[in-house]
Amino acid sequence: MERTLIIAKPDAIQRGLVGEIIHRLERKGLKLIGLKMLSLDEPILREHYAEHVEKSFYEGLEKFMKSSPVVVMAWEGFECTNSVRILVGATNPRAAEAGTIRGDFAMGTGRNLIHASDSKASGQREVSLFFTDDELHSYDKSEYNDIYEPHERD
Ligand code: RTP
Ligand code: MG
Repeated sequence: MERTLIIAKPDAIQRGLVGEIIHRLERKGLKLIGLKMLSLDEPILREHYAEHVEKSFYEGLEKFMKSSPVVVMAWEGFECTNSVRILVGATNPRAAEAGTIRGDFAMGTGRNLIHASDSKASGQREVSLFFTDDELHSYDKSEYNDIYEPHERD
C-alpha cells in the first residue's frame, strides 16, 4: 500500500495545530502507521530537502525547521500521496484553497505548517528516511470496508 510522510512543522507545534492536522487525515480515511516527535538536525534536513539545498530560501527553511521539535507521521492508503497533497493545499498558503490545511490556517510560505510528500516515490523515500521498520506498524483497519472498494484495499 502507498505510504506518505507528513511533518507537522514547528509552527504547527507552536500554534497547537498538530491535533487538527491528525484529525483531518484520520477523517479522510487514511491509516496512521507511524508517529513520533523529534528535533531535526542539519544532516537529516539536508537529505530530506535535497532538491532545495541550493535554493535561496533553504537557509531560512533549515533554521525554521530546527526552531522547535516537529511531529513526523507515516500514513498509508490507496493513492494516498495525491489525496494528502489536496488536503494540505498550495505551498503558498495565501493561494491555498479554503478547506485545505494551509488555506484554513496559514499565511506565510515559510510558515505553512505541514510537509507532505510530493510523489509516491518521495513518500517511500521519506518514510524510510524518518522511520525504521520497527517504528512502522502493520494492522487491519476495521473501517476499511466502508472506505474503499475491494480492489483499492489490496
Ligand atoms: P513541503 O515540501 O514542505 O511539503 O512543501 P511543498 O512541497 O508544498 O513546497 P516545496 O517547493 O517542496 O518547498 C519546501 C518548503 O520550503 C519552503 N519554501 N519557501 N520562500 C520561498 O520561496 C519558499 N519556497 C518554499 C516552504 O516552507 C515549503 O513548504
Ligand atoms: Mg515539497
